[in-house]
Amino acid sequence: MVIKGDTPLSSGLSELKNSGRYPMHMPGHKRNTQLVGSISDFYLPYDIDITEIEGFDNLHCRTGVLAQLSERCARLYGAKYAFPLVGGSTCGILSCIRAVTKPNDKIIMARNCHMSVYHAVSLCSLEAEYIYTEYCCGSGIIGSVTPRQVREAFESDPDAKALVITSPTYEGVISDIEEIAKIVHKFGALLVVDAAHGAHLSLSKNNFLPENKICCADAAVVSLHKTLPALTQTALALVFGDNADKIESSLSRQIDIFETSSPSYILLSSIEQCVNILENYGDSLFKAWKSRIDLFEENILKLENLRIFGYGEKAPDLFGDIYGFDKSKINVICDLCVCLSDGRPVRGNDIASFLRGKNIEPEMISRDYALLMTSFCDTEEAYIRLFEALSEFDADLAVDENAKNAEIERFEEFSSANKVAMKISDAEFAEGEIVFLNDAVGKISLDYITPYPPGIPLVVPGEVISGYVVDKVKKFISDGISVKNGSKVRVK
Ligand SMILES: Cc1ncc(COP(=O)(O)O)c(C=O)c1O
Repeated sequence: MVIKGDTPLSSGLSELKNSGRYPMHMPGHKRNTQLVGSISDFYLPYDIDITEIEGFDNLHCRTGVLAQLSERCARLYGAKYAFPLVGGSTCGILSCIRAVTKPNDKIIMARNCHMSVYHAVSLCSLEAEYIYTEYCCGSGIIGSVTPRQVREAFESDPDAKALVITSPTYEGVISDIEEIAKIVHKFGALLVVDAAHGAHLSLSKNNFLPENKICCADAAVVSLHKTLPALTQTALALVFGDNADKIESSLSRQIDIFETSSPSYILLSSIEQCVNILENYGDSLFKAWKSRIDLFEENILKLENLRIFGYGEKAPDLFGDIYGFDKSKINVICDLCVCLSDGRPVRGNDIASFLRGKNIEPEMISRDYALLMTSFCDTEEAYIRLFEALSEFDADLAVDENAKNAEIERFEEFSSANKVAMKISDAEFAEGEIVFLNDAVGKISLDYITPYPPGIPLVVPGEVISGYVVDKVKKFISDGISVKNGSKVRVK
């Protein structure tokens, strides 16, 4: 099949590959596929692996083929500026937050932000005030940040310079970015949205999924690699709105700091390929995806016991503090009274183990659910296999009314704030000692304690470790979830 469209970067790489031009430059493998091919076990694309050489532009000063790529990306997302990134959304988040703040500024952020946001807060010596988002009843999934919460946060801290939120979340929960942006701007602050999981949602056309209106924010970051056909580490930092010119020049300086000076052209060309696919095939790919999800939803609603979060018109999860939900994220959960054949309540790990037994690898396992990520690249057959596996699992489950009360605490633990005793950046550099978690209760943590995935810290440096947090960590670990600093932690 001949792929149509405009891919000058990829064509340039393919011409280079056939040109006989000898690379007296890095990388060290010199694109010598015969040599490296004979000494490696599998194919790697050495023959097109370059970084910035004559004719291929400069990622940190884009004037040629990469400037064109940036413009195409900006057009796709309705942004004024776009920065292609090869260091993931992590690089974009660090850069965006540093671009909109000065050292010692105060920012407001949702407490369920990814650790890269905390790292930015620390690197920029910021003071963070938190918005605690509520968990959705009966699911263990965190809900949207609400405009009311944002208004209250800015009324308490009117001098905050920026708000940082995650929308969509890992699980697909979307916040009302448009309303939130109006409030943030009314207080003279800027809005940064971590939309790492929503690159597929915010495209300016072709979409059937709910909109994630990053176009109302001042800056946003999307990981192309997470939900679109682009290689791992590819992402975009996007700039919108009236302050765009000012933010763009500051963001450019920050990306110079956080982004490598030897970007991989394989990754950059994968961004180009992704954009090209969306421009030329987006409509038909999204249409086919919609019919697969619709059919999957129709089938899944017939199951007795299992639920998919947000599926079904009357999905209980979609009431309350959920503004919007991305159904391409399949969060498999069970109601409280649903048990395995041995009477145990169903945990995320049980769902994941069953799926693994069927050769289906989930994206993320939480205590209470397993998350499966889909994209328009999934085949129809993949949805059928998934449905068959879930039906089989469902058939072995049973409802136990007695389990209802015994298990109710499972979803009643949330949103409690840790006491903040020090700024993150101060705590990270403070002198302390390493202790077992059991002995850390009442002490100030100098480390992050983070279940991974999803990479949202339970404790950040400077927060006081409570008995409640220690119990929560133990539960995560007993459910098979890895927790960074979950056994020993540095404290003061
Ligand atoms: C909400 C969120 N933001 C940001 C990131 C970082 O993205 P990346 O892996 O592209 O650096 C992640 C990673 O999983 C994430 O879950």
